[in-house]
Amino acid sequence: MERLDKRIAAASQYSRREVKELIRLGRVTVDGVRTASAEQKVAETAAIAVDGQSLTYEPYLYILLHKPAGVLTATEDRTAPTVLDLIPAPWRRKDLSPVGRLDKDTEGLLLLTDDGTLNHRLTSPRHHVDKVYYARVEAPLEEGDVAAFAAGIPLKDFTCLPARLEILSPQECRVTVQEGKFHQVRRMLAARGKPVAYLKRLTMGPLSLDDALAPGDSRKLTREEVKALQNAVGL
Ligand code: URA
Repeated sequence: MERLDKRIAAASQYSRREVKELIRLGRVTVDGVRTASAEQKVAETAAIAVDGQSLTYEPYLYILLHKPAGVLTATEDRTAPTVLDLIPAPWRRKDLSPVGRLDKDTEGLLLLTDDGTLNHRLTSPRHHVDKVYYARVEAPLEEGDVAAFAAGIPLKDFTCLPARLEILSPQECRVTVQEGKFHQVRRMLAARGKPVAYLKRLTMGPLSLDDALAPGDSRKLTREEVKALQNAVGL
C-alpha cells in the first residue's frame, strides 16, 4: 500500500504539490470513487484516474534538470555536491543517471533517466544528436571562427566533427555540436584563441531548457518530450 499522492506523482508528470491540488479539486478517482484524501493508502492494483484518464505506471523516469555551476555531473562524490543531490527524493530511483556530462562550471540542460537504452543512444556518436550551447568568450569572435567550426576544429588528440558557430555579439555565440567529448566546446573555442568565460547548454536534440526552470530546479519530461527524444534516436 502506498500514499495516493505519492503514487500519482510517481506515475505522472504532476509534482506532489500539483497532485495534492488535483485531489483537493476532486479531479482524482480511486476505483471509480472520487476522493479528497491525498494521504489515503492505495493498493498496487487500485485503478486511479485523473479527470477520468487512467494512470499507468511509468517504467522509467525522465527528468530535466537546470544544472547550476559548481555541481558535479556524477551520482555521488565525497567532496562536492552532485546533480543527483538536486533531484527531489521521491524521484531518486536506483538507476537514475545523467545523460552525458556537463563540466562542473557549465550550466544548463541536463537530462537524467533510468532508461538505459535511451541514455545509451542519446550519448552514442552514431545517433548524431545536436547539442546547442550558449557561450561567452574572452576575445572577439570572427567569421574565420565560423568557417573553422564548419570544417572541423583540430584538437591535440582528435579532429572535431563539423560544428556550427553562430556569432550573437562580438563575445557571445551559440555552438551546435553532435559529439560530447570531455571539455569539447571549451576546447574548440580555446583552440581559436577564444577561451570560454561562461557556458550553458540550451538543448539536447528536440529537448530545450525551460525558461520557467530556475538553476537547480528539475521537472519530469512530458510524454511528448519523451516521445520526441525516442524518435530522435530511432526508438
Ligand atoms: N563542452 C564543454 O566544454 N563543457 C561542457 O560541459 C559541455 C560541452
